[in-house]
Amino acid sequence: MSIGKPLPHDSAPIQVTGQARYTDDIPLPAGTLHLAFGLSPIAHGTITALDLSAVRAAPGVVMVLTAQDFDEVPDCSPSTHDEPLLSTGEVHFVGQPIFLVAAETHLAARKAARLARMEFADLPALLTVEDALSANSRFEQGPIIWTKGDAAQAITNAPHMVEGEFEVGGQEHFYLEGQVAAALPQDDGMHVYSSTQHPTEIQHKVAHALHLPMSAVRVEVRRMGGGFGGKESQGNALAIACAVVAARTGRPAKMRYDRDDDMVITGKRHDLKIRYRAGHDAQGRILGVEFTHLMRCGWSQDLSLAVADRAMLTADNCYHLPDIRIESHRLKTNTCSATAYRGFGGPQGMIGIERLVDHIAFAVGREPLEVRRLNFYRAAEPTGPGTGHRYGGPHSPANAAPQTTPYHMPVEDFIAHELVAELEKSSNYTARKAEIAAWNAKNPILKRGIALTPVKFGISFTLTWLNQAGALVHVYQDGSIILNHGGTEMGQGLNQKVAQVVADVFGVDTSVVKITATDTAKVPNTSATAASSGSDLNGMAARNAAKTIRARMADFLADRHQTTADKVRFEGGEAHVAGESYPFAKLASLAYQARVSLSSTGFYATPKINWDRINGKGRPFFYFAYGAAVSEVVIDTLTGENRILRTDILHDTGNPLNPAIDIGQIEGAYVQGAGWLTTEELVWDAKGRLTTHAPSTYKIPACSDRPRIFNVALWNQPNREDSVGRSKAVGEPPFMLGISAFLALRDAIAACGDGRRYPALNAPATSERVLMAVREQQGLA
Ligand code: MTE
Ligand code: MOS
Repeated sequence: MSIGKPLPHDSAPIQVTGQARYTDDIPLPAGTLHLAFGLSPIAHGTITALDLSAVRAAPGVVMVLTAQDFDEVPDCSPSTHDEPLLSTGEVHFVGQPIFLVAAETHLAARKAARLARMEFADLPALLTVEDALSANSRFEQGPIIWTKGDAAQAITNAPHMVEGEFEVGGQEHFYLEGQVAAALPQDDGMHVYSSTQHPTEIQHKVAHALHLPMSAVRVEVRRMGGGFGGKESQGNALAIACAVVAARTGRPAKMRYDRDDDMVITGKRHDLKIRYRAGHDAQGRILGVEFTHLMRCGWSQDLSLAVADRAMLTADNCYHLPDIRIESHRLKTNTCSATAYRGFGGPQGMIGIERLVDHIAFAVGREPLEVRRLNFYRAAEPTGPGTGHRYGGPHSPANAAPQTTPYHMPVEDFIAHELVAELEKSSNYTARKAEIAAWNAKNPILKRGIALTPVKFGISFTLTWLNQAGALVHVYQDGSIILNHGGTEMGQGLNQKVAQVVADVFGVDTSVVKITATDTAKVPNTSATAASSGSDLNGMAARNAAKTIRARMADFLADRHQTTADKVRFEGGEAHVAGESYPFAKLASLAYQARVSLSSTGFYATPKINWDRINGKGRPFFYFAYGAAVSEVVIDTLTGENRILRTDILHDTGNPLNPAIDIGQIEGAYVQGAGWLTTEELVWDAKGRLTTHAPSTYKIPACSDRPRIFNVALWNQPNREDSVGRSKAVGEPPFMLGISAFLALRDAIAACGDGRRYPALNAPATSERVLMAVREQQGLA
């Protein structure tokens, strides 16, 4: 069996030696043009004068295009046709492309793009959520409201109440490989290379821009140097620009954003303001809760509706909230268009409830973990196959029906009681908590803090029809195998995992299965590799393709040995039947000679799901993935500087397809999540200019910021749903474990005060914010 083996990522050796080929490394024919956009310097206004003569006259410039050069300006939006490739007269954010330069070299194009003379008539710019709210500038008619029970009444009846408002910042993806695309004109269409999580979307948008059928556009992506959601839709503009120039000039065209341009032009995680009001009892049990999400979506709709929906879908996290009202505003502002980012709104929704539970624990003066547990969903009884483990929480009556989420979905697989109990033990949480209190009592300058937070994250695209995948498998007559599927590789190890699945079907070593570039000409109509569902969907599709071929091979052998196909076993690189063994290569060759088809497609559609997003009702998720983390931090009360000292994680991967890759995903996701909530601060000035547009000012965690003690373990129990190998998706859920670092900082800050005032910390908790919160606790601010 190769499923479940900790095999290395298939590209690891060539990535560490620099041989792995990314889009920018693809050798292109002589005569390739290089592109750059001229960008809007203002946040909102109309273009009153556009003099591009210096741009056209600059050395190496071959072509300059504006909106005027199109009968119909190509659209780059993944949702609602509101993103013209080039401004059509109005500009909506600093960084919006106004014109396109094609030149002989990358540098020539970039230099020329700076030479435009542009004049504008300013319009009022809506930069903040408050600006947008007061102008009623939004996507969708009004706020989306989901309710369950009667929150207002429950809060009124509750003996205690807390309320608050806090800000949560956005996040730059900071993929190491920036956005890049290349287009090669063919005599019968367009061949596009793109660093994209969504090749079919690129194909669709390029076809539309060129007025071609999708069949005339082929999109290929071998790998990305990171996507993190930032390449679901943000690569559209570059691919379309390349295709348009290539079609007009007949020359190949390539476009790559410089890092600063990438950060200014492309969308980031949605920042938001969260308001909450909750009624609770003296123990900290939540009786009623209201959340308001004010999401800053930027100038175009992009994926914002689905992102904001998912923020609502995670507003409960692990807690049963019988009476709840969630109100979500999708605000349209004159800033870059916020987009998908690992967790897809989930982290934003989840930090709301984690902060609320933390606040309530503080208010009732109880250990936050106790209050968390008190509010956990009831553990459901085990049903169906694959549930070897004991469900059953501390307050779980036998045979009780599963409780339902705020969107009325029964939580049938709740394992957080046991998972958290095990982490509590393995991390030595309770003893360390006491130790930290004693340490803090003796240390006036440095203060330590600790927090344990859980994660429950729904797996599936909430747009139900996206939950499908296709694959194509070929077995060659020498027994070697080629695997192609609709997913894309961005470092997460998807190809390796799917190869392990296919190898298992044929009973061969994983090295026999060759992984090839994602290609819209091989597998059509793919969904973005997103929502953590890459291996669930493509693993199943590839397994189905391989099984079809295996069945044909088995039939062939059964015939040959006058037996039935179920008597044929594929194992150890051989097929075994009637006491005879055929090496796989030998079998392939014989089957070929017997004219057996050794190629097949495979398809998969996720079962059980249905969803009504407007009313917030249904089963949007096939299952939930769980996890929990304990973070311990130390802060310097004189400067606000802080460090994560130790992190312990227990994360639910089902039966992992590849535990080594999964642990890598968990470590990376945690660090990225902690970065979002601590050092990664996006700052826009009063004119809507992003001032943190380079690594000099925007701080992602460095190697030295990792917790020095970092214990990651897998929960390692089968998924109770019939997923591929009974594994669980792992790409996004552990991102939200980073919330424990944020709340550990809150805990350390509280140690500076007398316990009367809840440390109202906004995210990211930068050193400045930590320092200000400390001063507030000390009564100095
Ligand atoms: N891991 C790496 N190394 N690079 C990435 O870009 N993207 C994340 C996650 N892990 C990402 C990553 C995001 S946003 C998602 S949705 C999933 O991987 C997508 O891949 P999967 O569905 O195959 O897990
Ligand atoms: Mo991930 S944000 O779903 O690409």
